[in-house]
Amino acid sequence: MIMNSSSIYILVFVQLWLFSFPCRESVCIPSERETLLKFKNNLNDPSNRLWSWNHNHTNCCHWYGVLCHNVTSHLLQLHLNTSPPAFDDWEAFEAYRRWSFGGEISPCLADLKHLNYLDLSGNYLLGEGTSIPSFLGTMTSLTHLNLSYTGFHGKIPSQIGNLSKLRYLDLSFNYLVGEGQRLI
Ligand SMILES: *[C@@H]1O[C@H](CO)[C@@H](O)[C@H](O)[C@H]1NC(C)=O
Ligand SMILES: *[C@@H]1O[C@H](CO)[C@@H](O)[C@H](O)[C@H]1NC(C)=O
Ligand SMILES: *[C@@H]1O[C@H](CO)[C@@H](O)[C@H](O)[C@H]1NC(C)=O
Ligand SMILES: *[C@@H]1O[C@H](CO)[C@@H](O)[C@H](O)[C@H]1NC(C)=O
Repeated sequence: MIMNSSSIYILVFVQLWLFSFPCRESVCIPSERETLLKFKNNLNDPSNRLWSWNHNHTNCCHWYGVLCHNVTSHLLQLHLNTSPPAFDDWEAFEAYRRWSFGGEISPCLADLKHLNYLDLSGNYLLGEGTSIPSFLGTMTSLTHLNLSYTGFHGKIPSQIGNLSKLRYLDLSFNYLVGEGQRLI
């Protein structure tokens, strides 16, 4: 069989097109990007860890701490934990204070309907003096919620009980009281 050059071009093009699928990358969904930017607005981020979270980097799937689905591109996971230092290391504690996120968790986070993993652990300035936001109970895709050492006070909102897919829940090292008013 004799191929003319245009059919070779077409063949090469089709092959490149086929090859592009396995390494297709997630490109974030614009509404989810806007939600992340609103969430960032309510956070204190003294070390600017979220510098990649801005309009100049349109693909929010590549932002710090963000993981998207490899096919649907929906935002699946947020890894925004901070590791606290040893208790007796004052200098490390100062560095930790600057590295840790504070402020508040914007209710718009609940717009991320596909989010299944939320780790905000170790950011002890997030909860300061407030209780765990009840809107988290509407994020029903969550399988993993880590609010360990986030400084939340008071009762655990009953809405958390609506998270029927939850497999890991860590609320340790906070100032929470349960039914029997016991610190947990
Ligand atoms: C985005 O890019 C513009 C133009 O290069 C620049 O002026 C602006 O500061 C950038 N914004 C951020 C948040 O990096
Ligand atoms: C997407 O990720 C899953 C595992 O998380 C993997 O099994 C699947 O092959 C991936 N799909 C593509 C198109 O990369
Ligand atoms: C929650 O985060 C803390 C501190 O980052 C970690 O030690 C713990 O293992 C995590 N818990 C779960 C259930 O992933
Ligand atoms: C969520 O939980 C609250 C309090 O436990 C309950 O009143 C409400 O009906 C629940 N909502 C859904 C959608 O299950």
